[in-house]
Amino acid sequence: MSFTKRRSGSFKGRSLPHYSSVVQEKYHGRTYPWFVPLAFVIPGRTTRRLRLWLPNPRRIHQFSVSRFGRKRGFVFMLLLFAVLVFAMFALAKRFATEEKTWPAFTGDPPTLVYRREDLQRIWTWEISSGHYPSRRRLPEQLWLKSVIDNPSLPPRRASLPARFRAPSGPSTTTTRGIGPRRTYLDIRSEPPHVAYPPRPVPGSVADLDIVMEHCDFSEKKYVRDCLEVLRLGGGLDNGKRLRRGKMDDWKYIYLEQLDGSNGTVASDVEDETPPLITGIARDSIDPDNGLIKKRGADWEVPPIALPEPRKYRSYQSLSSPCDPETPRIFHMFWTGPFTDKPYLALLSFLFTQNTGLHLHDYPTETAACRPKFWLWINPGPAAAVPNPSAMHDMFTELKATPWAAPFLHPRFKDIIQFKLWNTTEQLDGVPELANEWRTRESLFNSGGHVISVPQKKESDVTSASAGGENATDTSKADEDDLLNRTGSKSSTSYDRLSVILSDMARFILCHRFGGIYLDADTLFLRDWEELWGWKGAFAYRWSRLEKYNTAVLHLNKGSALGTFLFRTALKNDLDFHPMTVSRYLKEAHLEGLLLRLPDALFDSAWLNTEYFQWERPPQPFFTDFQDFFDTPLKISAAPHALGFDGFFKGAFSYHFHNYWWKPFDPARNWPDLGPQFIAGERVARASARAAARSTMTGEKPAETEEEEDTVEDDQRDLDWSTVLKRTFESYVRGERPNLYGEWLEW
Ligand SMILES: *[C@@H]1O[C@H](CO)[C@@H](O)[C@H](O)[C@H]1NC(C)=O
Ligand SMILES: *[C@@H]1O[C@H](CO)[C@@H](O)[C@H](O)[C@H]1NC(C)=O
Ligand SMILES: *[C@@H]1O[C@H](CO)[C@@H](O)[C@H](O)[C@H]1NC(C)=O
Ligand SMILES: *[C@@H]1O[C@H](CO)[C@@H](O)[C@H](O)[C@H]1NC(C)=O
Repeated sequence: MSFTKRRSGSFKGRSLPHYSSVVQEKYHGRTYPWFVPLAFVIPGRTTRRLRLWLPNPRRIHQFSVSRFGRKRGFVFMLLLFAVLVFAMFALAKRFATEEKTWPAFTGDPPTLVYRREDLQRIWTWEISSGHYPSRRRLPEQLWLKSVIDNPSLPPRRASLPARFRAPSGPSTTTTRGIGPRRTYLDIRSEPPHVAYPPRPVPGSVADLDIVMEHCDFSEKKYVRDCLEVLRLGGGLDNGKRLRRGKMDDWKYIYLEQLDGSNGTVASDVEDETPPLITGIARDSIDPDNGLIKKRGADWEVPPIALPEPRKYRSYQSLSSPCDPETPRIFHMFWTGPFTDKPYLALLSFLFTQNTGLHLHDYPTETAACRPKFWLWINPGPAAAVPNPSAMHDMFTELKATPWAAPFLHPRFKDIIQFKLWNTTEQLDGVPELANEWRTRESLFNSGGHVISVPQKKESDVTSASAGGENATDTSKADEDDLLNRTGSKSSTSYDRLSVILSDMARFILCHRFGGIYLDADTLFLRDWEELWGWKGAFAYRWSRLEKYNTAVLHLNKGSALGTFLFRTALKNDLDFHPMTVSRYLKEAHLEGLLLRLPDALFDSAWLNTEYFQWERPPQPFFTDFQDFFDTPLKISAAPHALGFDGFFKGAFSYHFHNYWWKPFDPARNWPDLGPQFIAGERVARASARAAARSTMTGEKPAETEEEEDTVEDDQRDLDWSTVLKRTFESYVRGERPNLYGEWLEW
């Protein structure tokens, strides 16, 4: 591995050749189809889309221009548009139903309850705590008057004399870097050890500003190109060495230097333009001008209660590799029977993360911080109160479940932990909510859609603790079994309450414990070391929309951003739907504090499944999330031939969007983990056989037989989901090393 130095923090002038549609149009000058498919996401969940065929404006434009000439063609277009709009309104009037399921989308009411001075405090707190290692501009609307010192950003090399700088407005939109300098790394495995990529350098950081430059969908960057940059810059392209010229601009991973300067900067190096007309113009107007308060709510009384800003410490200055400020915990939330879904998530964690499993005794002194996985199990239906023996019951059940039992093996005890989710205790554990959440109408609010739970919670608690009654006792024989669902068994019996609960749970877990939350339909595809290094909060983008998806979420423990989110949610009926959270942040001009990373990093197939980038898709090319489970025959030679390496390589994770009811591996639908775990495998095989038998003939299975499985019984073509499962399993059996060439020996 060699280290190359590069101008730290230079941010401009680095761009890939990209192939925007504009360029292609020029080349081909083609005729467009009259109609184009348009997919609408139904806000509740992502698997359901509305596909409409709409007239293609490009084609109409083309037609009108060729027919009437440029000017009159334009007028024709306008007219046509007006007619269309009119027609749509007329139709809407006619067919509009009274039931509005998603009122949030018909003119979102404002959510804001914080005054501008508090928003300034939140930004200042986060920047001073080192949670903004970015050069992205701060929003104008903050009206920040003075430049804030940023300890997680290196100082600028030199600055232009004032007369060359762009005139700045009345508020400052940059921070002053006073942090350690950065060294960008050239990461690759060295010959002849090129079979596997090297583990990331402990403490290295992914510069997400650079990642945004290469991957931002709004800037027309392709997922395909983004993954290539992520792969090459991250050293994951081991051994291929297809020369493409100098790729310094693709280096996005850096180390902070410990050069003793302590970030104190000589004043001549500075700095940003101080605001020009500080205050004068603004002192006379309302300090909250431009902010739109939530209707019917009062402003929160400033100042917002925040602790002292955290002290920023670079990895190099820590005494041990684990920074207590950012505990390396991956959180996942699960409700209902333990299936192959959390099983595979855990295996993907073992296969990719730096857990040191290949070492028989994990050393006390290590260079890297060992990550942990906390799997939170909600024992009953989302609306029920757990009974007192819930913890004991949980472990009994895990032990008896073939998909879960392997992870109770002592080898995994320090890295995989099962935790009981107790809603009451969790809500009480968030200081921002503790005193007030009980006064809310319902805990189940999603995008303004409130599901009320019959009010018998208090009596449940008392009777449960007195009599040891059923956790799932909802007594009132419900016409709707929505309240009683534990997990989703099909697309029609979707456990919506648990989904809503998990929307809130992720914020609670990150705020209380720190770490990164992942949805349970997410698989790890590479080591996350460099993401841990980035101290800012992040989530990712809702496909084409400029909204958040919180399937991956990182918040700093006890941060000002977290306080803002909980207090705001409390005033908005505890709505944590990602679309609503997007509004909270946008209206408060805080979006910059929760970096909205491109889909390519965590959910590379999403844009393709919504018809984007079909002209240059990444590998594999999924046009629907189901393709992961039922890989279309035309492309299903790839999974077996390419294996794990052919699956969105470079991305940090893959998100398969629900499909809880689809097995990863229908032909071998059991944990195939070798002699260590044979007992569970036998149980699971027997029930798989029984299920197959009873659907075929309806007869009862014989108990004792042990069948030899032959290749004839297997699927001819292996789907991507199957190949990933079998890859991870063969690592646990000790038949192949993990992604980084480390062997698990039993
Ligand atoms: C850097 O900071 C540490 C503690 O914060 C202090 O002990 C040390 O003297 C500082 N070094 C310099 C060069 O300022
Ligand atoms: C859940 O939390 C509440 C409040 O902290 C506590 O009273 C109750 O015993 C907990 N239940 C279980 C099963 O731990
Ligand atoms: C719990 O529910 C199950 C099935 O609904 C029932 O068989 C069992 O007796 C119940 N236990 C208690 C303590 O009520
Ligand atoms: C809730 O689920 C349990 C177990 O699946 C079932 O026995 C019970 O009848 C259900 N209750 C309601 C109200 O649907």
